[in-house]
Amino acid sequence: MFLKALQKQNPAFIEAAAQLMKSGKVLPDTYLIDIEQFRENARLIKIIADNNNIRLYAMTKQFGRNPILAKILTDELGYDGIVCVDFKEARHFQSLGIKIGHVGHLVQPPSSFIHSLINDIKPEVITVYSLEKARELSIAAVHAKHYQPILLKFYQEDDLTYSNQESGFLLRDLPKVFSTINNYPNLIIEGITHFPCFLFNSTTNKTEATHNLGTLQAAVEQALHLGYDIRQRNYPSGTSCETLPLIRQLGGSHGEPGHALTGTIPANQDGCQPEKIAMLYLTEVAHHFAGRSYCFGGGTYQRGMITGALALEPNNPHGRYIPLFDGDPDSIDYHVQLNGISPIGTPIVMAFRTQIFVTRSDVALVSGVAGGTPQIIGLFDSQGRTLQLQR
Ligand SMILES: Cc1ncc(COP(=O)(O)O)c(C=O)c1O
Repeated sequence: MFLKALQKQNPAFIEAAAQLMKSGKVLPDTYLIDIEQFRENARLIKIIADNNNIRLYAMTKQFGRNPILAKILTDELGYDGIVCVDFKEARHFQSLGIKIGHVGHLVQPPSSFIHSLINDIKPEVITVYSLEKARELSIAAVHAKHYQPILLKFYQEDDLTYSNQESGFLLRDLPKVFSTINNYPNLIIEGITHFPCFLFNSTTNKTEATHNLGTLQAAVEQALHLGYDIRQRNYPSGTSCETLPLIRQLGGSHGEPGHALTGTIPANQDGCQPEKIAMLYLTEVAHHFAGRSYCFGGGTYQRGMITGALALEPNNPHGRYIPLFDGDPDSIDYHVQLNGISPIGTPIVMAFRTQIFVTRSDVALVSGVAGGTPQIIGLFDSQGRTLQLQR
């Protein structure tokens, strides 16, 4: 999906991948992240956010909950913390002392994690979408003598929800939900959120507000009308240089960039966005079967939209394009199949939409890409845990 953009925006990264594979410093099934380009994307996004008075929580699951990248965002660039998609992400960043801004959206904290969430982590906000969870948070907050800000999530039946992520209070129940939770001690209703609030429209080639955002705005209006102060209006998904001004125009206060940090937003398929591709997938041809080249797998993602790869053959250092052989997406990705024969051991580069935290890939942070002297400055697993560098 992003090969063309990679070739256009960051061709040196492809050469870096070839060099690193040749040196034996990385194994197949490794995501490489160009740390300087990542930092530049993150800096641009922060400048535009500041210009639009939008605050940012950063989503790191896409690039494997990486602690070095997370620290660049929070400590160096002033992002308002990490948005942890689930409690395991919160536990991980807590153990590393990295600032956590938002927990609970898309996955609520389980009961046995709430004590540590309220006592130790104290995120800026926790998203809540059941009265039971709000009650548990309130009890823990009272015990901890802490006032915990929360966000509420509302939906309408015709909103867009992804399978296994469905959640929220019904919009028509808003008055009751607000009055009930408002009476729970030590919880502060800080604002409202929803997901996804923006999606790329391939007809207009623009990232546009979803129906869900209309629901969120309606919820804010109703709450204001009832006399509640809604300080945070958090509009996640697709946060990027393109959508930050829209967030502001549409009344938002917060965005949560994930893919934009690595340039892998759908709007950047043709390499036209200010964010540039800073992440690629590196593997190699493992064996041949029935006229196809089987590459070591482990890093694919069902919604990755992989269409092909670049084979970095000796007579083709910039890569020869090979289309993907469309195997069965439901089977385990032991291998990725490419049409035709490329010699065994050939490095293979791909660039697609991923969620590294659901893969079993390694993640290598690479510096010196633009200058042609790539160096691995850290190796991690898909959950952001440090691995020994290959000798
Ligand atoms: C709660 C939340 N915020 C932000 C994001 C980041 O979305 P994107 O990468 O589209 O900016 C996601 C999902 O990927 C999410 O679940």
